[in-house]
Amino acid sequence: MIVANNRELLRETVQAWRNAQLKIGFVPTMGNLHAGHLALVKEAQQHCDKVIVSIFVNPTQFGPSEDFDRYPRTEQQDCQLLKACHTDLVYLPTELELYPTGRTTKTQILPAYADILCGIHRPGHFSGVAQVVIKLFNLVQPDVAVFGQKDYQQLTMLRQMTQELNFPIEIIAAPTVREEDGLALSSRNQYLTKQQREVAPCLYQTLTDVRDRLLSAKLNFATVIEEASNLLEEKGFKVEYLELRDSTDLSIVSSAQKEVTLLVAAYLGKTRLIDNLSFTLNNEI
Ligand code: PAJ
Repeated sequence: MIVANNRELLRETVQAWRNAQLKIGFVPTMGNLHAGHLALVKEAQQHCDKVIVSIFVNPTQFGPSEDFDRYPRTEQQDCQLLKACHTDLVYLPTELELYPTGRTTKTQILPAYADILCGIHRPGHFSGVAQVVIKLFNLVQPDVAVFGQKDYQQLTMLRQMTQELNFPIEIIAAPTVREEDGLALSSRNQYLTKQQREVAPCLYQTLTDVRDRLLSAKLNFATVIEEASNLLEEKGFKVEYLELRDSTDLSIVSSAQKEVTLLVAAYLGKTRLIDNLSFTLNNEI
């Protein structure tokens, strides 16, 4: 595995692969890798000859009171995991390389979907994600990029952005990898206390319960969701939102909608967890 600490080595390698007509896949991450990230690498390997993973904890997507400083940085361990699953190149840029002007050039990106769901509670977050992904796309210039459904709004936003900005990159979505008890793998799960960790699987349980209730009977979905949200609060979650949206464009669901996604964000103590579940509505709601 090539470890590129600078863009020269990255570009040189990509150029050589291009000359050899190889298809290049890209998996951007913030490191502290777990099985969810590695599943994206495997997905990329299915579609490409060479796979590049980047590790960069991007400051512009964290709010001032968020966990940028304490976000786990485990670069050595990450590289070992990537090597074991036959990643071809890991790109470890410095902040200066990605933000060479010290962030003085205000390229303010206002991506679609930034003013709903997580965007309301994390102002500037999606703008920061869009900014760094554009930078990485420009540096890596992959044929394919893989993102997890775990961050459903991010995936939807990046898909739209890639299309709108005419990046010749195919976006592939990979399913959410979960613990046995249903909790979606996340680097932030390690912030949970033992007691919070026991409660955390209720989040996914709630999503499946709401889905099952909506599929089993002609119920008022607003009522079902409100009840589920109240139940989460009783269990100790502080719910930011629990909403049913159109799977393609995250618009508010009308009665005729078929492909829907239930999205949730909730705090357990100081830890913010997100999850989602997509399904097909088979009855009018
Ligand atoms: P990060 O949280 O490190 O996630 C990197 C990629 O892994 C994202 O595409 C995310 O959706 C995916 N992922 C995380 N947990 C997953 C799980 N349990 N199952 C499947 N996929 C999972 O998302 C980011 O970093 C950043 O915003 C980034 C896109 C790298 C821009 O900085």
